[in-house]
Amino acid sequence: MSKQRVLSGIQPSGKLHIGNLVGALQNWVKLQEQYDCYYFIADWHALTSQYADTSQLRENIKDVLVNCLAAGLDPEKATIFQQSHVLEHAELHVLLSMITPLGWLERVPSFKEKQEAVTDKDLNTYGFLGYPLLQSADILIYRANYVPVGVDQVPHLEITREIARRFNSFYGEALPEPEALLTAFPKVPGTDGRKMSKTYNNCIYLSDPPNEVEQKIKTMMTDPQRIKRTDKGDPELSPVYHLHKIFSTSDEQNNVAEGCRTAGIGCIDCKKVLIKNIFKVLEPLWERRKIFMAKPDDLKDIIAAGSQKAEKTASETMALVRKAMNLDGLN
Ligand code: TRP
Repeated sequence: MSKQRVLSGIQPSGKLHIGNLVGALQNWVKLQEQYDCYYFIADWHALTSQYADTSQLRENIKDVLVNCLAAGLDPEKATIFQQSHVLEHAELHVLLSMITPLGWLERVPSFKEKQEAVTDKDLNTYGFLGYPLLQSADILIYRANYVPVGVDQVPHLEITREIARRFNSFYGEALPEPEALLTAFPKVPGTDGRKMSKTYNNCIYLSDPPNEVEQKIKTMMTDPQRIKRTDKGDPELSPVYHLHKIFSTSDEQNNVAEGCRTAGIGCIDCKKVLIKNIFKVLEPLWERRKIFMAKPDDLKDIIAAGSQKAEKTASETMALVRKAMNLDGLN
C-alpha cells in the first residue's frame, strides 16, 4: 500500500526561530517516518507581503533550508523543495483563479487582519488577496491527504477544500480534499512575553550563536511583579516558565514553579535551568548547521533534486487538470 501524502510549507520571510522549531520543524521530522512528505520553502508567499525589497530573500531561503536539514529533515525520506522552482504551482494557481469568487478571498480572516496590522507596506495588491489561493494550489497540486499546520492556517485549509469541491463539481473529480493535521502546540512566548515573532524583535533565532541565546534568556522578562529576590512570584506570569513548559522535564517545571512561588529560587537560577535545556535541544542543531553551511554546493543540489522530484508529481496532477478542463491539446 502506498503511503498517505503530507504537504506543508514555510515562508522565508525572515530567519527561523525556536517557535518555528517546536511548532513546525520537529513535527515535520516525525511525519517523514510515516508519510510521503513534501515540504517546501514558500518563497512566492513571502513575496505577497515582502515584494518591495527582496534583498534578504536569498539568505532567508538558505536559512530555512539549513534549519530544516539541521532539525533532521532527510532528503532521502522527504521531498524538500522551493516553491518557485516548481512552475506548475503557478499554472494551477492561474486556473484556480478563474473559478474563485472574489468574496471567498475577501472573507478569509487573515486578509483584513494582516492588511490592518501591517502599516509599513501596501498590501492592497492582487498577490496578497490571492495568498490563500496560491496556498490552495500548493496543496492540491500534490493531491495531499494531510497538511500539518497551526490553528491560524485553518481558514486557508477550509478555502482549499471549497476550491477543490468547486473544481470537482465543474470538471469532474480530479482534486481530493485535504485535511488539516493540527499541530497542537502551546504558543511560544518571545523574550518580552508576547508571541515570538520577528515583528516584535523578541526571537531566539536558530542561527543565534550560543552566547547570544544565553544572553537573550538571561535578560528575558519574568513575572513583572517579582522585583526583589525575596519577592514571591507567580510563574504563570513569567514567559520563562512558559518556555520551561516546552523545554524542561515535569520535575524541573515543578521545581522552578515552586521556587518562584516561595521565593526559594531567584529568576537567574530558574533561567539557568532553561538555558541548559534549550542548549540540549539546540546543540545538535548548531552542529548540523555548521556542517551544511560549509557545503553550499550540497545545499544547491538538495534543493534542485527535491524540486525536480516535486515537479514530477506536480506535473502528473497538471496533466489530469488540463485534461479535465479540455486544455490538453486538440484531438
Ligand atoms: N501560509 C503558510 C504559513 O504562513 C505557509 C504555506 C504556504 C503553507 N503554502 C502552504 C502551509 C501550503 C501549508 C501548505 O505558515
